[in-house]
Amino acid sequence: MLGLSAFDCAIIGGVAGVCVYYFVFVRKPRNGNGSGLAPPSTLGQASFQSIPPTSKGAAADDYDESSFISKMQAKNRNIVVFYGSQTGTAEDFATRLSKEALRYGLRAMSCDPEECDMKELAHLADIPNSLAIFCLATYGEGDPTDNLQEFFTMLKDCDRNELDLTGVNYCVFGLGNKTYEHYNAIGQLVDKKLEELGAKRIYELGLGDDDANIEEDFNNWKEGMWPAACQQLGVSAEAQDIKYRQYQLVNHEPGSVPPEKLYKGEISRLGSLQRQRPPFDAKNPYLAAVTENRELHTGGDRSCLHLELDIGDSRIRYESGDHVAVYPVNRSELVDKLGELLQCDLDQPFSLNNVDDDSTKKHPFPCPTTYRIAFLHYLDITANPKTNLLNELSDYTDNEEHKQMLKKMGSNTEEGKALYHDWIISARRHIVAVLEDLDSVKPPPDHLCELLPRLQARYYSIASSPKLHPKSVHVCAAVVRYTTSTNRLVLGVATGEFADKPAQLPVYVRRSQFRLPYKHQTPVIMVGPGTGFAPFRGFLQEREWAKDQGKPVGKTILYTGCRNRDIDYIYSQELEAWKDKGVITNLQVAFSRDQGEKVYVQHLMRRDENSREIWEVLELGGHFYVCGDAKHMARDVMAALEEIVEKHGSKSRQEAQDYIKKLSNKGRYSADVWS
Ligand SMILES: Cc1cc2nc3c(=O)[nH]c(=O)nc-3n(C[C@H](O)[C@H](O)[C@H](O)COP(=O)(O)OP(=O)(O)OC[C@H]3O[C@@H](n4cnc5c(N)ncnc54)[C@H](O)[C@@H]3O)c2cc1C
Ligand SMILES: NC(=O)c1ccc[n+]([C@@H]2O[C@H](COP(=O)([O-])OP(=O)(O)OC[C@H]3O[C@@H](n4cnc5c(N)ncnc54)[C@H](OP(=O)(O)O)[C@@H]3O)[C@@H](O)[C@H]2O)c1
Ligand SMILES: Cc1cc2nc3c(=O)[nH]c(=O)nc-3n(C[C@H](O)[C@H](O)[C@H](O)COP(=O)(O)O)c2cc1C
Repeated sequence: MLGLSAFDCAIIGGVAGVCVYYFVFVRKPRNGNGSGLAPPSTLGQASFQSIPPTSKGAAADDYDESSFISKMQAKNRNIVVFYGSQTGTAEDFATRLSKEALRYGLRAMSCDPEECDMKELAHLADIPNSLAIFCLATYGEGDPTDNLQEFFTMLKDCDRNELDLTGVNYCVFGLGNKTYEHYNAIGQLVDKKLEELGAKRIYELGLGDDDANIEEDFNNWKEGMWPAACQQLGVSAEAQDIKYRQYQLVNHEPGSVPPEKLYKGEISRLGSLQRQRPPFDAKNPYLAAVTENRELHTGGDRSCLHLELDIGDSRIRYESGDHVAVYPVNRSELVDKLGELLQCDLDQPFSLNNVDDDSTKKHPFPCPTTYRIAFLHYLDITANPKTNLLNELSDYTDNEEHKQMLKKMGSNTEEGKALYHDWIISARRHIVAVLEDLDSVKPPPDHLCELLPRLQARYYSIASSPKLHPKSVHVCAAVVRYTTSTNRLVLGVATGEFADKPAQLPVYVRRSQFRLPYKHQTPVIMVGPGTGFAPFRGFLQEREWAKDQGKPVGKTILYTGCRNRDIDYIYSQELEAWKDKGVITNLQVAFSRDQGEKVYVQHLMRRDENSREIWEVLELGGHFYVCGDAKHMARDVMAALEEIVEKHGSKSRQEAQDYIKKLSNKGRYSADVWS
């Protein structure tokens, strides 16, 4: 007998586990390579490490999945990074923070609050030297993201008797956009509330502005946050210069994965696009036939399309004011170009498997798949590459000039920020343009797949009413098409696809709060220039339907606008007909470029008779709606409304603002805006 103690066994077991892990995962060549293909590049292989696994043992697997505290204890983590994210940015930041913790010798895990019992937050104090980081986006009218909703509702209503966070360390990075009225409301509220409940803020609240450069805001914030966290957790703030790979490449032999087992663009369930089964939602979109796709402009070089999507067999229900989400596909010629630049076989089947087996996310996107499918359906290849991506790309070139340029843009120096701003943001370079212009840079395709963000669904305000069109959803979309300063023609991913007249689109409906008043008699004022008119088309169809049923319908006032009456006055015939029929009681159209000086909707609102009518309608309990551009229009309309309330209500500006705030709280002022 060897006479080993339990302790000896544990040590030997641990060492054996690490060795097995090393030989099975880490030691494999990164590009390789069951396919027999030459790896596209052997550059920079030494500088990346796989995330080290948690030491194995009974305790490590013995925890309750919904209990993040017991998971942290079992997996030896002392930092938890929660994210409130709708389109992936906050989630990406959370993942990056968890990865970066390793550089300080700390172990972190990122968590979706929706999947955790967040009441456990108080027990974080039981884990010595622990920290909770929150990356939280704001939406709508200062609302939390869907996945933060439950936690936020719990947090905002509770006091210290119900949730005492004494001893809990935390910090918050908020994600927002200054063009919205409630800038970063959620980050600010959560930061304040956690402190009120007794938690200790270890570093100041960070606020990221997506209208400027949220990536830079995040980098600046974390540069100060890490030293503060290290000090609080009692470790050295000296970061190791190590880059980590989160996913391990497995190349599948051609033919080894039967075609029906390869993902071909499905969001979640394999084969779901071929065998459509309700209920349809974000994870299971419905492939809607596009039954109509026509141009709304009658001239000029811009395009705005009217689409009708058949949902007849889907059992999808919608209300006027809801949004339809469309999963777009990247342009195939751009994907071909990317394949060429990466020197990769786009039809190679592969999987990317998370090396951190504690993570709930096993793959960055549905796997196994091919590079072609990943670049077409799953990855955003047209967004501006993030600084961390550029930094990691610098390892895949031996051209010193290119390397230094990428490193500089990936750094947080003033010079680096200026270069990033000019070369990436202003010139609107996407990853394909970067690899084209820095042609020595040859990252392995799998690493690029790990670094690129997920391609997101695009939302459209539904431009129809289910009362008239229960079996179809209408969309009014302005086609994005422009030429960059480097002379590249850019087409919007989704709207470019619409312009190509697709036969079908994968869609789902997302409920909104943008609703007509319950009673048809309630008067309404709608303000929506350009595509901002979209939801009001649904509202007007609904009011017309009520009128046709003989129901009394209240005042219906519409402010819309376009550049020229003869070119881009969209849905003009419908509007004029609604006006003639009395469905629209006051139609105000601002033609901004039909005369010397600009005329916008807010100018028409300010006109004497109009402003008096707006005030009277508000005083009679009417509802006010604004839809369209958040950046300029919605703000300017709000300013005009404040002026009107100030003038006709004999109020100060502050009182006018309070009046509108009250309208908003009562659901009588609603905005559906985007930037
Ligand atoms: C709630 C909601 C409702 C919406 N409703 C509608 C709607 O009813 N109708 C509608 O048309 N859109 C609507 N949108 C916008 C829509 O979701 C898409 O963002 C839009 O169609 C562009 O998508 P895309 O994939 O075609 O373009 P993308 O490939 O995403 O490109 C758009 C990006 O290109 C950039 N860009 C655009 N024009 C230029 C330019 N001239 N120069 C430089 N850069 C430029 C912008 O930064 C923008 O981020 C809505 C958005 C939201 C959030
Ligand atoms: N995020 C995206 O991907 C995306 C996609 C499409 C459109 N957009 C943006 O969304 C906005 C609406 O686009 P659209 O195509 O629907 O409409 P649009 O045709 O660009 O604009 C509709 C009308 O609104 C006017 N307008 C411009 N600024 C205004 C302001 N501050 N207040 C009130 N009216 C104003 C325009 O006038 P002038 O043009 O004469 O100034 C035009 O007459 C645009 O700003 C566009 O850039 C963004
Ligand atoms: C429809 C829409 C509404 C938004 N509303 C707000 C808002 O009210 N306040 C704000 O600060 N930012 C707002 N934003 C900006 C987002 O918070 C910001 O883009 C953020 O980076 C998104 O993070 P995510 O990708 O993790 O969801 C809004 C963005 C969109 C598309």
